[in-house]
Amino acid sequence: MATDLTILQLGPKGDGICEGLSGPIFVDRAIPGDKVSIRLQIDSRGIHRGEITELLESSPYRVPAPCPHYESCGNCTLQHLDEQYYRDWKVEVVKEALTKQRLQPQEWKEPIFIGEKKRRRATFAAFKQRDKVVMGYYRRRSKQIADVKSCLVGDPKLLSLRNAVQNYIGPVLRAYTPTDVFLQVVGDSADMLITGPIGRTGVPDSQVVQYLEPLLEITSLCRIAWRESEEAAIKIIASHQPVTATFGGLKVNLPPDAFLQPTVNGERALVDCVLAALPEKGKFADLFSGCGTFSGPMLARGSVDCFESSQEAVSALGKAARGRQLRAVRRDLFRNPLRREEANQYDAIVFDPPRAGSPEQAMALKNAKVPVIVGVSCNPATFARDARILCGGGYRLKSVQIVDQFHWSHHVEMVGVFVR
Ligand SMILES: C[S@@+](CC[C@H](N)C(=O)[O-])C[C@H]1O[C@@H](n2cnc3c(N)ncnc32)[C@H](O)[C@@H]1O
Repeated sequence: MATDLTILQLGPKGDGICEGLSGPIFVDRAIPGDKVSIRLQIDSRGIHRGEITELLESSPYRVPAPCPHYESCGNCTLQHLDEQYYRDWKVEVVKEALTKQRLQPQEWKEPIFIGEKKRRRATFAAFKQRDKVVMGYYRRRSKQIADVKSCLVGDPKLLSLRNAVQNYIGPVLRAYTPTDVFLQVVGDSADMLITGPIGRTGVPDSQVVQYLEPLLEITSLCRIAWRESEEAAIKIIASHQPVTATFGGLKVNLPPDAFLQPTVNGERALVDCVLAALPEKGKFADLFSGCGTFSGPMLARGSVDCFESSQEAVSALGKAARGRQLRAVRRDLFRNPLRREEANQYDAIVFDPPRAGSPEQAMALKNAKVPVIVGVSCNPATFARDARILCGGGYRLKSVQIVDQFHWSHHVEMVGVFVR
């Protein structure tokens, strides 16, 4: 126990930080200005963590958390922040990451905040105890699952699908074995991917398939897929029509674990930022293209070469592209980044790596002649690191646009435009 501690700042993951006797303590759900008593723990990495046992004095930036699941659910850890303070903090996180890399964009675009009820995809943990199914999110740093029947950030279509699945799925779940249920709403249709053992035998046998098939009739689901673990191959166990996303004019039949931006409005905002940075006509490359979120709309401006490591995404894009100026190439850009000579044939390159960023690809591009590089990222630290590499080669960071799609979480997305 430690008492009478004052929280001084918010850490990059949204914890409140105070000074303890032996260094910083990261206090869950505390904010600057709070005075707290905490239960102190040292985690496996030696980090001092605190859980509030008593809020002695409340920060002026603290507001009542609106979600009924706030105490039990591990998501939305910043709901107790005053809206303006929350927004300023998100902007500050990005600014700080860039400043650490001695970078200052020429222009900060007005940040875009997507807000509540917009998340169209989520992985829920499902757990059966006797006849009751709990379905929701893990508590922070815990194996306990919070049953989240309502969720303020979820799209109402996603939540009603979640509730229908929770009411139905019990008979195929194995008791006391957590199973992941990924649900993604795409327009009026939806997709489900189950990860983990199901049914009597652990794999979807005919009984499981027969039981699950009617879900396609009674919900918006168009497809149900399964895999034993995250690394295992995906098997489609029921489907009545493709799950189709439209990117610009491109209609793509998505593979079961397709990456989509988490919100429709966020996708639109990111696409607008990307398009605004591109020339009106040209030859473009979309690196880490996924299923074509940016490539589809970019097609209206010219030809697009898409590079992506997922075979399923590349095949889906390739099929959708028939007759259009789009080429989908499977390539591991970490091991085999697009080389400078290859990059030089393009008028602009879009670069949207996973959270870890891609210093390898940034290194390969930094001395290229391509006039515009647009970096999209969901991680300020890796974005800033890769930006530093590009700027070290002579690119200039022209603008940064923050798009906050992960309302009330510590995550934030951004688009940076680099020019020669
Ligand atoms: C953040 S997502 C962006 C996808 C797409 N731009 C979009 O907005 O829908 C990152 C993409 O990078 C792909 N990826 C991950 N590692 C990769 C690698 N080593 N080489 C190429 N692509 C990779 C993932 O499969 C994923 O589609």
